[in-house]
Amino acid sequence: MTNFSLFQGDICRLPVDAIVNAANTSLLGGGGVDGAIHRAAGPELLRYCRNLNGCDTGDAKISLGYRLPAQYVIHTVGPIWRGGAEGEAVLLASCYKRSLEIACQYQLKTLAFPAISCGVYGYPNGAATKLAIAALVDGLSFNQNTLEQIILVAFSDQMAGHWQAALAAQNLNWSHY
Ligand code: AR6
Repeated sequence: MTNFSLFQGDICRLPVDAIVNAANTSLLGGGGVDGAIHRAAGPELLRYCRNLNGCDTGDAKISLGYRLPAQYVIHTVGPIWRGGAEGEAVLLASCYKRSLEIACQYQLKTLAFPAISCGVYGYPNGAATKLAIAALVDGLSFNQNTLEQIILVAFSDQMAGHWQAALAAQNLNWSHY
């Protein structure tokens, strides 16, 4: 049974098995949550990511967390919002599902997600969080599931409201982290 929690603040502070990074296809860092994770993890993360040969949109790759309190980082690449007719929803769902798959391969118990594509990449935040929760619920039913807790991370009050609405839309019980 996987429990959902909501945390408002910096994902880099979470002492979980893995945090998910909203990266770009180069996996070589950037702004937003990606920049924050690279700063907090230290230069060893960039050194390791140089050997990963990038990552396709909708896919995910794992690294250690280095100086982060999290043991691992799962780097996924969300779609850039281009109006919604360019496969954005399928690609965003795939980010959550691939991240879950990798977490289950590594037998992780606690996993934290930022709102992928909801910043620089411009995905409408309400739609993105609804799709994210639906993709997670679906993915959890498929994987040999080791996950005890999924933490949804909001960096603002507004995003916390979106996560809460999305959890309510799936009738999920949740708690504050
Ligand atoms: N902790 C938790 N959430 C955060 C943090 C943080 N420290 N910082 C930002 N957010 P974004 P994207 C929220 O732009 O839209 C990068 O340059 C933020 O408020 O980080 O997928 C990459 O290299 C928003 O709700 O990711 C890519 O080029 C959410 O995290 C590109 O941005 C995602 O915003 C990816 O864009």
